[in-house]
Amino acid sequence: MNSAEKQRTIGSAPAGASDRESAAKAVREMFTSIAPRYDLLNHVLSFNIDRLWWWRTARRFDAILQRPGTRVLDLCCGTGDMAFALQRRTRAPSAKILGADFSHAMLQRASEKGTRRAEDKNAATIASLRWVEADALRLPFPDRHFDLITSAFGFRNLADYDAGLREIARVLRPGGECGILDFGEPRGMLGAVYRVYFKKVLPAIGTVISGVSGPYAYLPASVERFPAPDEMLSRMKQAGFAEASWTPYTFGVAGLYWGKL
Ligand SMILES: C[S@@+](CC[C@H](N)C(=O)[O-])C[C@H]1O[C@@H](n2cnc3c(N)ncnc32)[C@H](O)[C@@H]1O
Repeated sequence: MNSAEKQRTIGSAPAGASDRESAAKAVREMFTSIAPRYDLLNHVLSFNIDRLWWWRTARRFDAILQRPGTRVLDLCCGTGDMAFALQRRTRAPSAKILGADFSHAMLQRASEKGTRRAEDKNAATIASLRWVEADALRLPFPDRHFDLITSAFGFRNLADYDAGLREIARVLRPGGECGILDFGEPRGMLGAVYRVYFKKVLPAIGTVISGVSGPYAYLPASVERFPAPDEMLSRMKQAGFAEASWTPYTFGVAGLYWGKL
């Protein structure tokens, strides 16, 4: 795909989806169908590097996470691992973290994991963590509400990236920050080897373990459609972020988009 074609891309487009509503519906159904095996697949297919990426992302926001009373939203939280990584780095019990997702099945697993974790932890030392069923393009929160918004491997699935960025900017307070963690496309020799893995091996293994064929073909296609870092950063600026940067993780296999209002 050349850069002119990517420029026209404004959101995810699962096979068969013709507009924003049908794309969102297809994405929700897809994640609901793989929810029972999602965690296992994530760890197997990423060789557990996903844990390192969530940790690095959370660490980037230590200053905000350790502020008393800080309000954090993890968008497209799925089964909750990004939100748990954020919670681990808070020190103030007055901090509040919300995980939001529009797939009830994914949230249910997040909630079960959260209950198990809470039993092992001293609640007096960590932030509260709650889950809310919500569409990232229509967030049920007032303007200027959050200090930090993160999204791990979720933003790419939105049916309209610019609307998603505007919604994030709306609910962030002035000076608030966002971190969007997602896959990238590494270059060079490593990129060539990785592409074979990502486009051929990963969909095959994903299909066998999940028992569903669509999602793991959709994954590489959605990464290919996603704007390149330069374009994504300019979309963030257009949405109102005063500062924006991209940090590659693991040779660019993934990367963090950081923005500050
Ligand atoms: C690949 S999973 C990522 C889950 C988790 N953040 C992680 O790092 O494992 C993507 C999640 O985004 C959610 N999602 C996609 N579009 C959404 C939208 N418009 N609103 C809310 N959640 C959405 C899906 O339901 C799914 O749970």
